[in-house]
Amino acid sequence: MMHVKLTVNGEQRSDDVEPRLLLVHYLREVCGLRAANIGCDTTSCGACTVLLNGESVKSCTVLTAQAAGQEGVTAEGLAPDGQLHPVQQAFRDEHGLQCGFCTPGMVMAAVSLLRENPSPTEDQVREGLEGNLCRCTGYHNIIRAVLAAAAQSAGSQAEVTT
Ligand code: FES
Ligand code: FES
Repeated sequence: MMHVKLTVNGEQRSDDVEPRLLLVHYLREVCGLRAANIGCDTTSCGACTVLLNGESVKSCTVLTAQAAGQEGVTAEGLAPDGQLHPVQQAFRDEHGLQCGFCTPGMVMAAVSLLRENPSPTEDQVREGLEGNLCRCTGYHNIIRAVLAAAAQSAGSQAEVTT
């Protein structure tokens, strides 16, 4: 066992874990956070995507030990008070989900994408989310949701500056 300290959704954690424990298993089984799903375990589907220091990572390919000292955020952490994050709200408004299995990972990838590029084109959204698979939606409404979140964010910034 080894000792790790990290921040998860703003909470300082300090846990003994096996050196081989994957971050997704740590989040789900040790922290009790079930938003990050395990779809493939082979870095293919993106269902396990979370943020580490603001960057999206597939938590099935990160050891918990590698996340030590870092700041992790799961989809639960986007809405700590039950108030949906603008990207979550846009997925809801634009019907960007069906079964919902891919959704937490898709939302985290979208949040990371919009942090890097707040006004992406449709092609840039498609490219930015290409590591996240969805078996239900055909992606159309997911792309619409991300573009809507970007437009809404641009609108609120314009309101602030005018
Ligand atoms: S479970 Fe991590 S990429 Fe599929
Ligand atoms: S909504 Fe079902 S996998 Fe994406």
